[in-house]
Amino acid sequence: MASSSKVRVRLVYRCTDCGTATPKWAGRCTTCEAWNSLVEEAETRELPALPLAASASAPATRIGEVDASFAQPHGTGIDELDRVLGGGLVPGSVTLLGGEPGIGKSTLLLQLLAKWPQRTLYVSAEESAQQVRLRAERLAAVQPDLWLLPETSLPHILSAIDTVQPELVVVDSIQAIADPALPSAPGSVVQVRGCAHRLVVEAKRRGLPVVMVGHVTKEGGLAGPRVLEHVVDTVLSFEGDRHHALRLLRAAKHRFGPTNELGVFEMTGDGLIGVPDASTLFLTDRRAGVAGSAITPTLEGQRPLLVEVQALTNKVTNGVPPRRSAQGLDAGRLALLLAVLERRADLALGAHEVFASAVGGVRLTEPGADLAVCLALVSALADRPLPADVVVFGEVGLGGELRQVAHAPRRLAEAARMGFTRAIVPANSANGVEGISLTRVGTVNEALLAVGLAREARRSNSVLQLQGR
Ligand code: TYD
Ligand code: MG
Repeated sequence: MASSSKVRVRLVYRCTDCGTATPKWAGRCTTCEAWNSLVEEAETRELPALPLAASASAPATRIGEVDASFAQPHGTGIDELDRVLGGGLVPGSVTLLGGEPGIGKSTLLLQLLAKWPQRTLYVSAEESAQQVRLRAERLAAVQPDLWLLPETSLPHILSAIDTVQPELVVVDSIQAIADPALPSAPGSVVQVRGCAHRLVVEAKRRGLPVVMVGHVTKEGGLAGPRVLEHVVDTVLSFEGDRHHALRLLRAAKHRFGPTNELGVFEMTGDGLIGVPDASTLFLTDRRAGVAGSAITPTLEGQRPLLVEVQALTNKVTNGVPPRRSAQGLDAGRLALLLAVLERRADLALGAHEVFASAVGGVRLTEPGADLAVCLALVSALADRPLPADVVVFGEVGLGGELRQVAHAPRRLAEAARMGFTRAIVPANSANGVEGISLTRVGTVNEALLAVGLAREARRSNSVLQLQGR
C-alpha cells in the first residue's frame, strides 16, 4: 500500500453509472451520457494498486503445462443455478449477483450456502443476524457449517475469513460494505470498486469462491461503476416480476462457460424452488380460445420454452396519438412490427391503442418471437382466436418476409411435448419433428392466411371498409 504521506486528496465528480471522474459538475456524464449521475467525491490520487491474479508474478509457461484442473466447477446442489453457471462455482472465482430489491437474491444465496457441503460464511451487511436467522429457519438453512457475520467493514470481513476459513463466502451486498482506509463515503464508486477489488484479490489468493450481491439501478443496470463488472469473473442477473412467483436467472458475463443459459425458479413460502419444466408453468393460466393470444416456442440458451404472447388493440377516436405499450417485449420491436403489419398486410393500426405482452413476467428478446407478436395483434384486432393447437415462430423482416430462426427442431419438440400439433414456421425452416405438422409460410400475409385471419382482420378494419375493400 502507498504510505499515507503520499496520498493526496482531491474533489472530483464521479459518474455512478460508468465511473468517469470530472473536475467540474455537469448535468450529464460526458462519457456514458447518463443524466444526473455525477456525485461529489473525495478521491485519493493514487489508489493502492493490488495484483489481480494471485500468480501475477509467476513466470510465463507453455499453455499445455498449465494445470486447468483447479478451474473445475463445484456443483452447488441447486440445479437451476448449476445450469446457468455451466456446472457450478469455480474455486477462486468471484460472482456478482444483481437484481432488483425484493427479487430474492438473499434468499437464493442463503439456500446456496445451506447446500454447500463445506464451511461457508454469509456476510450480511444489510440485515441483522436475527433477521438472517429467521429467514434461514424458513428456508431450512440453519446448518452447523453456515457461519454468519453481520458486518459492513471490509477489514473485519477479511479477518473473519481468516478465522472462519470458509470454503465459500457470500457478501450481501457489495454496496453496503466499506473500507475505512478509502477516503470516500460507503456506497460511493470508489468504495464499491475498492472493496470489490480487495475481495477479488482475496478470492484468487485463497482459491475461495466469493459471491457478491449487487444492487441494480432503476434502469436495470448494476449500480456502481462498470469496472465492477470488469473486475468479477461472472455477472448473474436475477429477474422477474415481483408480483409473479417466477424468477429468471441469467449470466450476463461468465469467464468459465457460456452466457446464454437460463435458470428458472419459483418463489414459494419455503424459498426458491427450481422449475425444470418451465413451459408448463408459463402455460398453466392460459385460456385457449381467447382472441389476441399466440404461443411461441422461444429458445433461451439451449432451453426451449413455450411462452404466450398477448395483445390487445383498442380503437381511439379522440385524436391523441394512441398508446403503445410493450411488456416483456422490446418497445422498438413492437413499433417495427406494427409498421410492417400496416404497410405489408394492409392493416390500419394507426388509430388503435396497442398493448402487447409476454405472459408470466418473462422477457422475450429474440426475434423468433416476431411472428407470435404479429399474429396476436391481428387476432386481437379481428377479435378472433388463433387455433388452440398451433404454435408459431419466425423473425419478421421489414418487407413482411419471414426469416428462419435457429434450432427449429428443438423448439418443435418442446411444442409437441406440450401437446401442440401444428406449427406455422418460416418457409425454409429445417425439417419438423414427429407429432407436429408444419405449415411453411414465406410472409406475414401467408401466416395470416394459414391461421384463417387474413379476411377477418380486414373485415374488422374500418378504414378498409370505408374504402369498400
Ligand atoms: P430477498 O431474498 O430478501 O430479496 P433481495 O435480497 O433480492 O432483496 O427476498 C425478499 C422477498 O422474497 C420478500 O418479499 C419475501 C419473499 N420470500 C418468499 O416469498 N419466500 C421465502 O421463503 C422468502 C425467504 C422470501
Ligand atoms: Mg437482500
